[in-house]
Parts: sequence; C-alpha cells; structure tokens
Amino acid sequence: MREKLFVGNWKMHFTLREAKAYFEKFLTLQSKNPLSNRIIGVAPPFTALFYVKSLLKATYIKLVAQNAHFAEKGAFTGEISPVMLKEIGVEYVILGHSERRHLLGEEDEFISKKVTSVYNIGLKPILCVGETLEEREEGETLERVSSQVKIGLQGLKSLQPQNLVIAYEPVWAIGTGRNATPEQAEEVQSFIRKVLEELYGKETALEIPILYGGSVTPENVGELMQMPNVDGVLVGGASLDPEKFYKICSIEV
Ligand code: 13P
Repeated sequence: MREKLFVGNWKMHFTLREAKAYFEKFLTLQSKNPLSNRIIGVAPPFTALFYVKSLLKATYIKLVAQNAHFAEKGAFTGEISPVMLKEIGVEYVILGHSERRHLLGEEDEFISKKVTSVYNIGLKPILCVGETLEEREEGETLERVSSQVKIGLQGLKSLQPQNLVIAYEPVWAIGTGRNATPEQAEEVQSFIRKVLEELYGKETALEIPILYGGSVTPENVGELMQMPNVDGVLVGGASLDPEKFYKICSIEV
C-alpha cells in the first residue's frame, strides 16, 4: 500500500511568531480529530525549521525542508546542507520546485545531484516535476515530465521506494487558482508511474507516492485524491491557513 501524503509548502511565509500561532490553531483542530492513515508534513522557511521542530515534538507531523544543497559542507555561501537538515529532524526535502527552476535557474542535472545527495544522506527527496503552459499547448507535457523524472533520478540506481516521493506540479497551476482537473493529473501521474516502472521495475514503482500540486484547495482535494495515481497533495497557498490545511489533510483516504 502506498502512503498518502499531505504536505504544506509555506514557501517564503511566516515569522516564528506566525508559525507558533499557526500550530496553536492546527494542533487544536487535530487534537479534536486526530488524522490517521496518512502522513502530514509541513515545509517552513529555513529560519523557522528548528523552531517548528520543537513545536511539533509531541505530534506525528513531519518536518519538510524546501530545498537543500548537494554538498555536505563547504564554501557555498547562503546554502544549507542535507546533513544540517537531518541533524535538526527534517525527514523530507522538496527539490526541483518550479519556482527554483524558473525563478532561480535550477536545471535537471543540478537538481539530480541534490536528489542523490539528499537520498544518500537518509532524507526523503520530494522531486517536483511539471510542464509550463507553453509546453502543454505544444503537446510536450509527457516528454518534459519524463526527462525531469529520468534526469532527476539518474543518480539513484537502487531504491527504497518508501524513501522517495514525486510531486507533479504543472507550472500553469501553481498559485493561479487554476488546478489541473483530476483527469489531467491522473493522465500525467499514471505516465510518471510508467516511467518509474521502466527505471526500477513494477513492484518498486507501485510503492512510490506521487503527489499532485497546483492550486489545491479544500474544495478540489477530494476529487483529485480519488484518482488512482494521486497519492497525496503538495499545497502552497491553501496550506498557509491552518483551517484550510486541516480540511485538506482530513479528507477521507
Ligand atoms: P499553490 O497551492 O499555491 O498553487 O502552490 C503549489 C505549490 O507550489 C506547492 O509546492
């Protein structure tokens, strides 16, 4: 059985005070109705990671980082190493997010080095892939996603499927209020599963969770999660509101 995952990506939001207020609300909601059979993760900005870990000490909520460098240490001003993330209790690392690809120029080969390093250090990469609107309109979606997955994972020859997550985030759906339809998400995500099967064989491919991300809300999460290859969601905007994120995390799985 594949794990179901609900991850909130806070992006560049929330001071420590705001993070505290957020969890006061979220943890109150979940204490009334604990959420079982699923993994819930939150990805705060780097400055709040250690503090959020302390807030989440007695909970099942996983700590997720929004990025990592591939090196364990060295002269990389402004970067954070996966070893440092592991030390403070991070379990998952988002890599190859479209905002890093498109706003900061990260490319597949570079992302691949990070995926390999993060995985080898014992953290779980959440590799993000997805096409731009232009690529979709040109009919290049599957080709683009396939090469992002293949290059992104090229350093992982053998694989524990429970230690890797793929997130399909069509660029045109991120922060636009225009989510992919469940059918669009399923088309690409079942294709990603085939690519994973080519790389690692059927049994392993069936165990790797594939998330959908892009304008997920409490209103559309239910129908997205009904798709056989949508194993969870990576939520941006709606995860900033603890009530909305709680609603998203608490749908039936
Ligand atoms: P939105 O949910 O705001 O569209 O963002 C999605 C995203 O980028 C999650 O990583």
